[in-house]
Order: sequence, then C-alpha cells, then structure tokens
Amino acid sequence: MSVRRLAEVQPESFAFTPENEARCAKEIAKYPPGRQASAVLSLLWLAQRQNGRWLPKPAIEKVAAMLGMPPIRVLEIATFYTMFNLAPVGRYFVQFCGTTPCVLRGADAIKAVLERRIGPAGQVTADGLFSWIEVECLGACCNAPMVQINDDYYEDLTPENFDALLDKLAAGRPVKPGSQIGRRTSEPVGGLTSLTSLYGVDGRSGPQTYRGSPGYDPPSPEPVSDKD
Ligand code: FES
Repeated sequence: MSVRRLAEVQPESFAFTPENEARCAKEIAKYPPGRQASAVLSLLWLAQRQNGRWLPKPAIEKVAAMLGMPPIRVLEIATFYTMFNLAPVGRYFVQFCGTTPCVLRGADAIKAVLERRIGPAGQVTADGLFSWIEVECLGACCNAPMVQINDDYYEDLTPENFDALLDKLAAGRPVKPGSQIGRRTSEPVGGLTSLTSLYGVDGRSGPQTYRGSPGYDPPSPEPVSDKD
C-alpha cells in the first residue's frame, strides 16, 4: 500500500448541491441521535461522486462539520480507504487488478497497455480522459484478467480487446461491460467441465427441465384417480 496524501492543488471550497444535501440528510437520519458519525462513509462517497470522483480537502472538512467530527478523524478515514481518491482522476478511472489470479491470466500485458496509453499509475492524460491505479483483487477472478472502469467491470481482457475498449471510450462510443469475449457471467469458456454425464439424466437438471429451452420436455400430468 502506498502512502496516501491529499493533492497538492486544492479547490478553495466545497459545497454539496441541494440534491446531495438532501441525500446527506437522509443518510444521517438513518442513525440514532449522537451516532451521526456513522454516516461518514456515505457522505464522503457522495462528496467524491459530486466532485468528479475525487475527494478534495474542503469536502473532507465540510463532512466533518456536518457530522460534528474533528476534521482529522474524517481525514484518517479518507486516507485509509482506497475507494476514496485524494487527487483528480480521469473521466474514465481505471482500477487495474494486479493480484495473483489476474497476473496468472495475463494482467501484466494489460498493465503494459495502460502504461503505453495512459502513462504511469496515478497520472491523468492531458485530455483529462484517463487515469489508472493498481488495486488488489476485485472479486472477479473467474473472469481474469479484469479492470474496473468507473462503476463497471471489464473482464476476460486481452491486450487487443482492451486496446479496442479504450479506443471506444476515447471516441465516446458505447462499450459493453462484463466479459469481453462474449462469455455469459462466469460460465466455463469451453462449456461444461463437470457433471456432464448427469446433465439432464436425472430429470431434475439439464435443458429439458427449463420451460422455453430447445430441449424442454414438459412432465406428464399426474393421473387423476376417480377416488381423489
Ligand atoms: S485477482 Fe483479479 S479479480 Fe481477483
């Protein structure tokens, strides 16, 4: 974990929009009197979202004032959690997973694309479009290697499909989150690898048990006896 410091250049002030003021009030009201500090993460998150995905010092101070907390306590929280960016990020903020399963599946080549196209980690491109950081496992190891860009995951990356993805983002064209090789969620790439001999044989699993699937074979109705 690298040292996390506030950005050198800071705005003079920060104020929530009226809409976000109302959302803050709602968050604070979730906690009993005297426990308003429990809303600190929610308020910091709202401030970051409002401020182009990074958290300036005046926003930290504003949240502290709203919650009646010493600013240093809010600063400790903002610097502890890596979900808070303490310096400006690009419009497309890439969180690159550099943990072992992703590395074993080719993350180094994805990192090379980031370094070639964007530059060193933490640097925003001159046009303000991109920046990236390396993070620990984002919990999508089944579809490694992967990155998170803003709120979405992009998985099954190769240098080629990742380059194409960044091209589309740069051009403002739509992109599809999730697997970039057409895989549905995290199903096996090459089809089933287990339970293949039992698939559908027991009458309770397999395509013929799902209404609407090509092999669907509806069960015969139970015979009704006159005595029933
Ligand atoms: S190791 Fe990359 S998502 Fe888990």
